[in-house]
Amino acid sequence: MSSNESATTESMLQESRRFPPPAAFAEQAHIKSPEEYAALHKRSVEDPDAFWAEVAAELHWFDKWDRVLEWNLPDAKWFVNGKTNLCFNCIDRHIEAGHGDKVALVWEGEVPKDDGSFEIERYTYNDLKREVSTFANVLKARGVKKGDVVTIYMGMVPQLAIAMLACARIGAPHSIIFGGFSAQAICDRVEDGQSEIIITCDGSWRRGKPVPLKQNVDDALKMTDRVKNVIVYRRCNNDVQMQAGRDHWWHELDKDASDDCPAEPMDSEDLLFILYTSGSTGKPKGIMHTTAGYMVHTYLTSKLTFDLKPDDPDEMYWCTADIGWITGHSYIIYGILANRVPTLMYEGGPNFPAEDRFWDVIERQKVTKFYTAPTAIRTFMKWGDSHVEKHDLSSLKVLGTVGEPINPEAWMWYHRVIGKENCPIVDTWWQTETGGHMLTPLPGATTTTPGSCCKPMIGIDAAVVNSEGEEVGTNEGGILVIRKPWPSMLRGIYGDRERFIDTYWSKVEGMYCPADGARVDEDGNFWITGRIDDVILVAGHNIGTMEVESALVSHDAVAEAAVVGFPHDVKGNGVAAFVILRGAIPQGDEADALKKALTKHVRGELGPIGQPDQIRFTEALPKTRSGKIMRRLLRDIAAGNEIKQDTTTLEDRTIVDKLVAQGG
Ligand code: WT7
Repeated sequence: MSSNESATTESMLQESRRFPPPAAFAEQAHIKSPEEYAALHKRSVEDPDAFWAEVAAELHWFDKWDRVLEWNLPDAKWFVNGKTNLCFNCIDRHIEAGHGDKVALVWEGEVPKDDGSFEIERYTYNDLKREVSTFANVLKARGVKKGDVVTIYMGMVPQLAIAMLACARIGAPHSIIFGGFSAQAICDRVEDGQSEIIITCDGSWRRGKPVPLKQNVDDALKMTDRVKNVIVYRRCNNDVQMQAGRDHWWHELDKDASDDCPAEPMDSEDLLFILYTSGSTGKPKGIMHTTAGYMVHTYLTSKLTFDLKPDDPDEMYWCTADIGWITGHSYIIYGILANRVPTLMYEGGPNFPAEDRFWDVIERQKVTKFYTAPTAIRTFMKWGDSHVEKHDLSSLKVLGTVGEPINPEAWMWYHRVIGKENCPIVDTWWQTETGGHMLTPLPGATTTTPGSCCKPMIGIDAAVVNSEGEEVGTNEGGILVIRKPWPSMLRGIYGDRERFIDTYWSKVEGMYCPADGARVDEDGNFWITGRIDDVILVAGHNIGTMEVESALVSHDAVAEAAVVGFPHDVKGNGVAAFVILRGAIPQGDEADALKKALTKHVRGELGPIGQPDQIRFTEALPKTRSGKIMRRLLRDIAAGNEIKQDTTTLEDRTIVDKLVAQGG
């Protein structure tokens, strides 16, 4: 075996375990076999207009669309000139079909009552319609009009769902801020979104203590005077200051408002919401999602990924995410309610009052479909099986995960300890930007393998390519791309057209680039290998920049190192290292000798694939004011490109000039 082959096998996760869907599950599923999946996927990608029109026709439209898709890369318009309303589709449509008395949303509070039981609220579609319409009228009375951005900063209470649905009902885009964020984050988002109204709570319960949400809003509003109205829902009864004229109690406004508020017919491409996601550099990006495409995609993916069954009286879906993230937007509220399946909303932490809280909830609420994150699963593993074993989890049918690659051992634990080896696991890959699932097993159709997010969703044309956009071979690492538009794709970054194009559309020509590395195995399963900013694909191997840097710094002569990739004729990418030495920078032969010694040292630590192809000694590295190395600049320098990027956040521009002048 050559050294190269041994590097191949070492850098790749070896996984031979395969789990076909249980036969009894497959039989009753929407998509019942790999063949059915493959045929439907093929049709959906070859004739997307016909496919998506069929899906859209399952929903309510005030006016039908003229064209399914208008595509001017990178701008998509879906269901052109259609008129619809997502809130209507989540609530009124079900009432009109005779389901008004069915449960839409179940909420469970965190803190036990005196008798040890928990606060539980159930909202039928009729209840939701009444509450949402009433609050929509409250917003209107505060001057909110179609198109006005409404900031929501609340805990996980039903009123958060009601507030967002009320926004959708009247066509006011919401901008939800996760309740764990600070005053500064609120201020930044209010300013960026030019939002004049905030809906918040006095506090939110987290592990038995109130988080002072209103206080954070007050602090934020000392830094901006844009906000004219603050509506405060009372949840914790903690002390808050109410500023006369600006601050209003939810319950006081609500009691005078009418509960009649017809849903506003929205254009398909009207803005539905903004959700901020942090980039690796720079300020958070306001990801824009519009009405119809987002609705159709989250509806379909909820239905297929979780195999949702609205007519099964036992169906009970629970996603443990916070609504402040995209997972909560798409898969606690919109996609699930659009499918007429009860969605469970839990207020607090997984270890309150004890480490078995999630399993207790599943047992009492008889949860059938459960969706959580790998980080939570690893935590549960650490807490131990005994917390799980206390509870009857036999209601569970499908287990989902999202947020990061799930390591195979965590997958196996989920499968064995939670799923009792009888529940398909859906490892869903997607992003805030994609709006909904993009790569995932379908629980009745896909043979899963631990650690892989398996196959493209129906309607999604995903591939792993090199930087030229050419598909790479089996098990060769590359860049994950989406080659065709999909309905719930982001429509832009709020107020920053250039950044939208630069971030998603300039890495691989003509394709959406999510900035994740991936490979496809011999069964056509996708494996996500991490963010491409942090890995370099060298001859098909993912090399973590961190690993090479650590190896360099472990050499006596090196003080600090930054490693980036650069285009390489043979290997696709090469490894370039910028090294700060402990002593003076040597010249001539001495410099060459040290470079050789460092290369050998890294080879010894990581193997041949990780060894640097270029080493440059430097006095300093380009860093931001907060001390982060600006790798995007180093990438241009390593590639010999002209520096055309924005360098305003750079601490010292002369470092870049010196590195450019010095050459490779
Ligand atoms: C990034 C998106 C989608 C909602 C939660 C995160 C990583 C997400 C997976 C998965 C491997 C995953 C990717 C992606 N990621 N799901 N199943 N397997 N990686 O949303 O904050 O927009 O982050 O999370 O790197 O690009 P987000």
